[in-house]
Amino acid sequence: MCGIVGAVAQRNVSDILLEGLKRLEYRGYDSAGMALIDDPDTGIATIKTVGKVANLVAAAKKQGASGNLGIAHTRWATHGNISRANAHPHDSSGRVALVHNGIIENHETLRQELIAAGYKFATGTDTEVIAHLIHQALENGEGALLPAVTAAIARLRGAYGLGVIDRRQPDRIVVARSGMSLVIGAGIGENFVASDPLALGQVTDRFIYLEEGDLAQLTSDSIEIWNDGRRVDREIATLSGKAAEMDKGEYQHFMQKEIFEQPQAIRDTLSGRVSEEKVLEEAFGVSAGKIFDKVKQVQIVACGTSFHAGLVAKYWLESIARMPCQVDIASDYRYRDIIVQPGTLFVAVSQSGETADTLAALRYANAHNRKHVATLAICNVATSSLVRESDFCVLTMAGQEIGVASTKAFTTQLTLLLILAIVLGRRNGLASEDEARLVRDMNGLPDLVDKTLQLDKEIRKLSKQFSDKHHSLFLGRGIQYPVAKEGALKLKEISYIHAEAYPAGELKHGPLALVDSNMPVIVVAPNNDLLDKLRSNLSEVSARGGKLYVFADEGIGLESDRSCKVINLPGCPEVLDPILFTVPLQLLSYHAAIIKGTDIDHPRNLAKSVTVE
Ligand code: F6R
Repeated sequence: MCGIVGAVAQRNVSDILLEGLKRLEYRGYDSAGMALIDDPDTGIATIKTVGKVANLVAAAKKQGASGNLGIAHTRWATHGNISRANAHPHDSSGRVALVHNGIIENHETLRQELIAAGYKFATGTDTEVIAHLIHQALENGEGALLPAVTAAIARLRGAYGLGVIDRRQPDRIVVARSGMSLVIGAGIGENFVASDPLALGQVTDRFIYLEEGDLAQLTSDSIEIWNDGRRVDREIATLSGKAAEMDKGEYQHFMQKEIFEQPQAIRDTLSGRVSEEKVLEEAFGVSAGKIFDKVKQVQIVACGTSFHAGLVAKYWLESIARMPCQVDIASDYRYRDIIVQPGTLFVAVSQSGETADTLAALRYANAHNRKHVATLAICNVATSSLVRESDFCVLTMAGQEIGVASTKAFTTQLTLLLILAIVLGRRNGLASEDEARLVRDMNGLPDLVDKTLQLDKEIRKLSKQFSDKHHSLFLGRGIQYPVAKEGALKLKEISYIHAEAYPAGELKHGPLALVDSNMPVIVVAPNNDLLDKLRSNLSEVSARGGKLYVFADEGIGLESDRSCKVINLPGCPEVLDPILFTVPLQLLSYHAAIIKGTDIDHPRNLAKSVTVE
């Protein structure tokens, strides 16, 4: 998704901007650009390219781009096609240039108004109206950039993170935030702005997170922030170098690295949250205990992989906490006539904490007369909007996830959701010996994931049988159905093989018609009460000439034959099945994608952090 970097210094900032954009590549984008002011008399130098940041780097080198002031952007198209013209920065009359994250909803009305006032539009973007509005305000007597930006944003409806420069005021960048993240990086004799602190890790470790409605002016030696017309002070946070680390190490892809980091990520997520036999509910915060006492049911909202985590959690909340749980896709939640039952805990699950739909659902819940007991964020990014806007939060300790396809975030989300089920279960009849057993099981999880990862070679071999397939079916029963959905999502998003997931019991109600020798059927088969029923579903597939790939608990004694390839997983306590069985499905998609030669860490059309609706 779009990324912003800006810098004002007493040295050439072009390499800083380009490095910043490289660091934002993980968010997904389709074009990139940069605007610099070197000598105000020669104007604003703008360079834009379609495709990878490397193209922009090459173009900048060719043009010898330099300037002490600049803004840069990676664009993920929302309005207007992918083209050089539509890439940011956008300018007005060669005077104002700006970069924008977000969507301006009333851009069409503003465009008509600006055309009537004599402005010519060079792009199909919603952003260009902002450049012209600022220019209009400057020319109409505002004079200084800050009041001109203030006047322009007062006209906008929608979401924006903005970085603006003015050729006639070449010592400053004005930035504004509404609905999109922006962070200021504080340097010595130089200052920076970015949509993610990671972009500035090479120049500073001191950051100011702008809050909703903040407007700021940066010069090389000052940072001034306003909100609602008043000067405000914002705390400077120091972020360790580790948080900005982006190294694939011995791995070929970030996704692969992140799959293999799962034992440690789960260990880190458990640490401080469980003792040997007990959940430490203080980890949810000082007031969490009192909140949990009031909870009678749970409402989970999330998108994509995080939504699948929510679907798994529903089973745990029912069986362990004996509580009803509703799981909603975040993008639909706020468009329904929601009935909030008394005693509902609202839980937003998100890796990034910046997913527009999940944030909007949280804001809707917050605004909805606050009928929920409280809002809880389960999130991987401590500084995210979701964390800041929820009543309380608990962080997955997955470390930064760079691969667009979510892996370690999912298994650590599951880890925390299981802890949540235990915490709520305690208040609803879960015996302390049952809690102790569950916690002991959880403490064994990192080693079991480690063991499961040792299936890597076997799964790599198996994946060869997928490379020429166009479609696939994933089956799971009960709590394994969301696991099958997650497996299908992983396969389709990184290998581009069409994959559909079904509850295994649904097979004969339709999808069986698709089964033939060209349709691999992937099944997750743990050792549980539904096993015999699942075996019948497997026979239904074999009888129709389908080819089965079964990930099975080693304890069930399933053997490979002509129509069925079995991969045995280490036996594990039943409650951990959804986490363990996810791992081989991640590996399967990864190896299938390697064979297909796709861009694994940046699958086409996708973004790591989906910050638009
Ligand atoms: C799939 C994937 C996405 C995200 C979804 C929500 O691998 O990564 O489906 O899970 O975009 O993102 P977060 O969790 O950041 O809210």
